Amino acid sequence: MTAHESVHPTPDEVGAYYDLMGPFYATLWGDNIHVGYWTGPDDMSSHVEAQDRLTDLLIEKVNLTTGQTLIDVGCGVGRPAIRLSRHSGASVVGITVSADQVARATMLAEQNGVTDRVRFERADAMALPFDDETFDAAWAFESLLHMPDRQHVLQEIWRVLRPGGKFALTDVTEERPLSDEHRALLYGSFMLRSLETIERYPALVTAAGFVVDEVIDISAHTKRTLQFVSDALIQKRDDIRALYGDDLLATLEQVWPQLAAIQRDHLGYVVLVAQKPR
Ligand SMILES: C[S@@+](CC[C@H](N)C(=O)[O-])C[C@H]1O[C@@H](n2cnc3c(N)ncnc32)[C@H](O)[C@@H]1O
Repeated sequence: MTAHESVHPTPDEVGAYYDLMGPFYATLWGDNIHVGYWTGPDDMSSHVEAQDRLTDLLIEKVNLTTGQTLIDVGCGVGRPAIRLSRHSGASVVGITVSADQVARATMLAEQNGVTDRVRFERADAMALPFDDETFDAAWAFESLLHMPDRQHVLQEIWRVLRPGGKFALTDVTEERPLSDEHRALLYGSFMLRSLETIERYPALVTAAGFVVDEVIDISAHTKRTLQFVSDALIQKRDDIRALYGDDLLATLEQVWPQLAAIQRDHLGYVVLVAQKPR
């Protein structure tokens, strides 16, 4: 089975989407643009606490220390990169195709006093503007699902990593097959390029030259995410109306409950940890 593709947004179109939707994400998701990790049904963590918990899992997996460097491929507005740097002392270069995200992430780094070791730039993961063997580690935190060619991006990440370098990725997976209608709604709403299955991921990463250390299925821990956002939309509808107007608010209110149901019934989530051989 190959990755499903139904719409084909280019990296520039994905960048324009995040430029436009920056205020939407800032209002409803905060400064993490990824799912939350809840430990179980009794876990009463907020959306932000659960999102930071997933970042902390990745921080543990890349296991960096002061003076080491990581490239954050698809960095959003930078909260995961800044959190990693504050916890480990490592330096981070974050790349994104959205100019608005670069500006927001740079401001967040200034507010956190980490501009000496965390910086952000606009770049396309399909052609990373860095020399071979530049970084000690890399992560692609819920970003590969937007990109035109996952295999190519994995090879690019392998290229810029030093031998022995750690690589962690997270991705939304297609846990149960989507109907054409659901796929069109999901891909169109989030500018997705393709979804993989968890079963296929290790072979993809291995084909790029990595040795896979761990594949962790955390699907069950992430399922509350879109419901949280759907609920937040009800609470913050006046803010969203002020930002985008009545028509877009009406569309969002119609679509979000459907997206939450699609996540619950069809989507999974993988954390994969690998290494470039020495
Ligand atoms: C769902 S957001 C995740 C953001 C961030 N990793 C986080 O967890 O908060 C996806 C990110 O991937 C970036 N992205 C998508 N396609 C890209 C590409 N071709 N090159 C670089 N970044 C890309 C987007 O600009 C966005 O920042």
